[in-house]
Formats: sequence, C-alpha cells, structure tokens
Amino acid sequence: MNLTVQMAERPLYGTVEVPGDKSLAHRAALFAALAEGVSEVSNYPDSGVTRAMRGALASLGVPSTLKGGVLRLSGNGLRPFPVSGAVAYCGNSATTIRLLAGALAATGSTAVLDGSAGLRKRPMDRIINPLRAMGADVEGTPGVAADGRAVLCAPLSFRPAPLKGIDYALPVASAQVLSCLQIAALGATDESHFTVPGPVRDHTVRMLRAMGASLSCLTPLTPKPLTPSRPLRPLKPLTGRLPGDISSAAFLFAAAAIVPGSRITVKGVGVNPTRTGVLDALQAMGAKISLSAAREEMGEPMADVTLEAGTLKGIAIAGDLVVRAIDEIPVLAAVAAFAEGETVVREARELRYKETDRISAIVAQLRALGTEVSEYPDGFIVRGGTLTGGTARANGDHRLAMSMAICGLRVPVTVEGAEILDESFPSFRPTLASLRVA
Ligand code: S3P
Repeated sequence: MNLTVQMAERPLYGTVEVPGDKSLAHRAALFAALAEGVSEVSNYPDSGVTRAMRGALASLGVPSTLKGGVLRLSGNGLRPFPVSGAVAYCGNSATTIRLLAGALAATGSTAVLDGSAGLRKRPMDRIINPLRAMGADVEGTPGVAADGRAVLCAPLSFRPAPLKGIDYALPVASAQVLSCLQIAALGATDESHFTVPGPVRDHTVRMLRAMGASLSCLTPLTPKPLTPSRPLRPLKPLTGRLPGDISSAAFLFAAAAIVPGSRITVKGVGVNPTRTGVLDALQAMGAKISLSAAREEMGEPMADVTLEAGTLKGIAIAGDLVVRAIDEIPVLAAVAAFAEGETVVREARELRYKETDRISAIVAQLRALGTEVSEYPDGFIVRGGTLTGGTARANGDHRLAMSMAICGLRVPVTVEGAEILDESFPSFRPTLASLRVA
C-alpha cells in the first residue's frame, strides 16, 4: 500500500487517544498466562505484534479472548505449557519471541519458537547464552543479522531442564533481554542478579511485582539497576487498564512539532520515565510539552500530554537518551529534517538490530526525500531544512513507515509498503486526520 499524508494547510489541533501500550500488552498476556486465575486487562491493543503474542500463547495451549478492548485470559501457572511440542509462531515480534523464551525456560516446556523472515534475522545469542548459563536446554539456528554478522537466530527449540539463578551483566542495554532473563529467573532454584548498561524500560519489574513476584530494582533511571529475582509462586492474575502507547503517540507529537502553530493533547499516555526520552528530545528541539492529570495504572505512570509547536533546532542524541527513546529515533530523525541545524545521533548501534537495520534505513529514506544525512557505524547526522519530498520505502518497518509519512504534512511524500504500520498502530491514519481543523 502506498500512503500519502495530505499536506497541512493549517496547524494541527485537538485531543486524541492512542491504543494501549504494546510493551505492556505483551507482558500482560504472557504474565497472565503464567498466573493462577483469570486476568482481565482493558485498553488492550489489537495490532499485528499483539496478535503475535496472543497467537503464540494460544498455540502453546493458553488461548485468550479480546472483546471491546478487554483481554481475558485464564492462566496456566508457572508449569509447563499445556501443548507440548508446539511450534509457536511469533510473527514479526521480537518482544514476543524473547519474552516467551524466558517463559518456556522457566516453566520447563517443550516447544519451538519461530517467526517471519524478518524475525529470523534478529540476533538471539543475546538470550540463548545467558539462558544456557542458567541451565536452560535451548538450541538456536545459525543465521546472519541485518548487518552481516553471524549470529544464532530463530527457530529456537526448548526442552525441559532445571534452572539455577545467575549473576549476569548484560552487554547491551536491552529490555527484551533483561525481561527474558527475569522471567526465566522466576523458575530458578535460587536468586538472580542483573546489571544493565543503561536505563532500559522497567515494565517487567513493575508488572511482575504487582502480581506478587519478588523483584527489586534501584530507581528506574539508575544507570546500573540491580535486579534480583526470586521464585515466588503463584503469580496473582492481572486486572487493570493499559496506558496509551507513548511510542504511537510519538508520531502525533512529531506531526504537531513540525507543523507551525500546532497544539495537540494525547490523553492517558504512559509516561514511565524509561520511555519518555522522545518527550525530552522534542522539548530540547524547541517544542513545548506539558503534562496534566497525572495518575497511575497497573503500577505505571500516565498523564495527558500536550505538545505545542515551537521553533525547532537540531540537538545531540546519545547515551541514556538513546535507550529511553530507542523506538522513537526514526521519528525524531524525521523531525530533525525540519529543524534548524544538525541533529547528531550517536551511541545508537542497537538500531542496526531492530525490525530492519534502522540506521541505514533512516539514512536511505531521508536521503530519498532529499535530506542531507551522514551515516556512522553507531548513528547518523541529519542536516535540517534540506528535505524536499519524494517517495520513501517502509522496508518492512512500521515505525519507519509512519516516520516518513508525517513528513508529508510539510512536503509531498509517498510511502511505499505502508501497510506494515498495522503491526503497531492500525488507527494511525484516522487519528492523524482527526487532528486537522476543518
Ligand atoms: C521492548 C524493548 C526494546 C524496544 C522494543 C520493545 C520491550 O527492544 O525496541 O520495541 O517491550 O521490552 P530492546 O530490548 O531490544 O532494546
């Protein structure tokens, strides 16, 4: 599908909501499956990646229903999944495969995890090695990552094996890896301790704690959180409402930031400090951001977030800010194309191992739209004010598709392969359209 967003003749204006947070939705379904009893979670998003987790759980013998935005799931507890020997298909969702891997290890299940051609290129040694060190019986498949490195990939095969606790320093700041290991640690005979080289999202700790597991974490923004996990059975079922997804709201904030005079509010957005790097970056670039109606849902902070457009200037994005905005770098790159001066993104090598090699994809697509961009092994530099428009390709990456599409508010842009946005934000187009004043 080709997507062309109509150019904005007037400022964007209005108040909207976005679907529930995907990171939380994945965890809610998986942890509900590991709990004893029936969980009910509202504002549950229905998109490609959340269907991947629910589908994989169903093929392992734990089905769920989703009606009127309410997910209902009867847990199987911390015991082997009911269907032994299943091949659980995880689609394009790396969070599904990596978190589910931790659950198969914790529960001593026999199963194979597989996924799309794109998912089969994502590096899995980062979970296989530490899971094996805990005692897990897991086999990966030799493959090649998007940047050409030889790595172990999906399919992943699991067989039951007793797990022991681990003391592990993660080499990369990855919430998926940390979460996989924290989940595995629930099934280990003794405590595990993890250190992480950056402020990764802490949803797993917050949610499992709310379900009765004993996990602790130094403040979420401590660079090296110490995260001991101890087995505690059973997990209590989950009830509550998911906050809106800040990673989806980011496209609307970016849209308002690049159209002068805009002022929009997204209600009920998750503002967990490990996820708000995009707001800090947009503010540093010149947008005005304010939070109101702060509240908490399922142990997660949320608020109504208002963004007012301002004069945009280029900024430097590196270190902790990269980790706290890891999924929003593509849309920040799009905003940078409309800012005055250079935006420098460095220390962001992890972007090469996402849905696509996001560094080379961002560089190629912004160039296709006329922007001057330089590529580095760990990032890129965007020279603002040089974007003229044209045709961009989504490259099978939902975030790249929406990031390039919002450029169309200012210059004529067509995005090829834009159907991929259904993976995470199927209502992107009508939501963006609702912010136009008639
Ligand atoms: C996620 C963690 C991040 C993020 C992904 C979702 C999660 O991946 O990019 O979209 O829900 O834990 P990494 O942990 O690989 O950085």
